[in-house]
Amino acid sequence: MSFVVAIDGPAGTGKGTITKLIAKEMGLLNIDTGAMYRAITLECLQNGISNIDDKEKIIDIAKECKIEIEHIEEEQKIILNGKDVSREIRSKEVTELVSPISSIPEVREIMVNLQRKMAESKNVIMEGRDITTVVFPNADVKIYLDADVEERAKRRYKENVEKGIASTYEEVLEAIKNRDENDRNKKVGALKIADDAIVIDTTNMSIEEVKENVKAIIRKKRIQ
Ligand code: DC
Repeated sequence: MSFVVAIDGPAGTGKGTITKLIAKEMGLLNIDTGAMYRAITLECLQNGISNIDDKEKIIDIAKECKIEIEHIEEEQKIILNGKDVSREIRSKEVTELVSPISSIPEVREIMVNLQRKMAESKNVIMEGRDITTVVFPNADVKIYLDADVEERAKRRYKENVEKGIASTYEEVLEAIKNRDENDRNKKVGALKIADDAIVIDTTNMSIEEVKENVKAIIRKKRIQ
């Protein structure tokens, strides 16, 4: 049985950065499940779907497309039908459509099965919205990262600037608020705090502080 660290939380809490660092330092496989929903969304956009009215077509795309996560020199790459789309999945168009697409129960079922398979033979640190509640409710470590919405928008805006993605702070804040609303109110796989998850409010913490906190929690569980 593999060792599973499950991390959930809304956008901009530092989940991605922290899991990447911890994976490297603790020898775990890093799986960013948001990137998987983004890859399906990109495939939909590339097939001319720009809203979720055409649910059947979206479900077909989710069934047919092949999503893989490769780790090249410790960098996580998202491979969609054989092509590296790690950059394209961060575009504004994908970010706007991903939450509604990830609300479709059939799409979630396909993704959850794939995520469970990925952890069958490897020790993983997996981050997303429903990892502690749906994908691995019995994970060895369950953590919920949180932060004030303005702080999260500030972080995401800074990240966009660094990656050369065009956006204003106001646009990022608005998009995060919309996604929070949608992610928290999904019928299946909604973002919520599992009863037995450890909650860390990262608003006034540095990445280093959060990382060390999470590592200490993992270490404690690993030697039990
Ligand atoms: O982590 P992220 O911002 O890249 O995630 C993109 C979207 O995917 C997010 O708005 C909600 C959805 N998502 C989800 O529904 N379940 C997950 N386990 C991960 C992400």
